[in-house]
Amino acid sequence: MSSTTSNNIILEITGVNKTFGGLHALSDVNLKIEEGETHAIIGPNGAGKSTLLNCCIGRLIPDSGSVTFNGNNMIGMQPHDINHAGMVRIFQTPEIFPDLTLLQNVMIPALAKRDGTFKFNPFKSLAAEKAILEEAHATLADFELDKFHDQLANSISRGDKRRLELAMGIIQHPKLLLLDEPTAGMARHDTNRTIDLLKSKRMSHMTKVIIEHDMHVVFSLADRISVLVRGHIITTGTPEEIKNDPKVKEAYLGESEDE
Ligand SMILES: Nc1ncnc2c1ncn2[C@@H]1O[C@H](COP(=O)(O)OP(=O)(O)OP(=O)(O)O)[C@@H](O)[C@H]1O
Ligand SMILES: [Mg+2]
Repeated sequence: MSSTTSNNIILEITGVNKTFGGLHALSDVNLKIEEGETHAIIGPNGAGKSTLLNCCIGRLIPDSGSVTFNGNNMIGMQPHDINHAGMVRIFQTPEIFPDLTLLQNVMIPALAKRDGTFKFNPFKSLAAEKAILEEAHATLADFELDKFHDQLANSISRGDKRRLELAMGIIQHPKLLLLDEPTAGMARHDTNRTIDLLKSKRMSHMTKVIIEHDMHVVFSLADRISVLVRGHIITTGTPEEIKNDPKVKEAYLGESEDE
């Protein structure tokens, strides 16, 4: 159940439509994310999950509808401004700096957050940034990555790269973290480590939207779940409600044996 004490809505998606040519990727999507909750969005491949996140973070502009974050309209805002406002997304394919060290990877978003993306020259002053250097080490330690801090990011395992990207998101102190399949392609052991991290003290109370196919991850983390099918949210509810919803079973019939 949700650990939220208030029902503050941090993100409100209202009547969002998005088409690609003749394809209705999103049809009248309505969704409210409460402060403090972990909200999973599930649905078959091609349902529109990543498109929905892209409409929230400014990578795509909906054809119609509104996206309100912390009371402010996000439509038409640039992705870096939305990021700066506190909505941070972890991508389906890790977006890290492969030729920089892990420490530099984590420091850059922290410095960009503080100074603005375009003012800061990361290569000039990284070593002089004592407070952020310390926070970067502490963050890497939280993610069990500090032992690799001076290695290049392209040298670590796929699971560690995904956790590095998570560390790069967390160091920005997001108000809302959007995770697109944070455990995709991971072995079970790595998946469980990531679940534990997302449930850890540092992250458990952070408001999160998690897109995920792995039902073990979904049911381990979610306070509420929304089911997106062919661009429509067919239902939103607690894990228990979703497990027992015949509409959901029908939508997944023949799609997968997970559960
Ligand atoms: N930029 C684009 N141009 C054209 N079609 C697109 C574009 N992005 C997504 N689509 C289409 O929109 C639909 C929704 O795609 P989306 O990536 O949002 O699905 P998804 O639910 O994230 O799927 P998956 O679980 O496989 O990641 C799909 O049919 C996809 O092919
Ligand atoms: Mg996707």
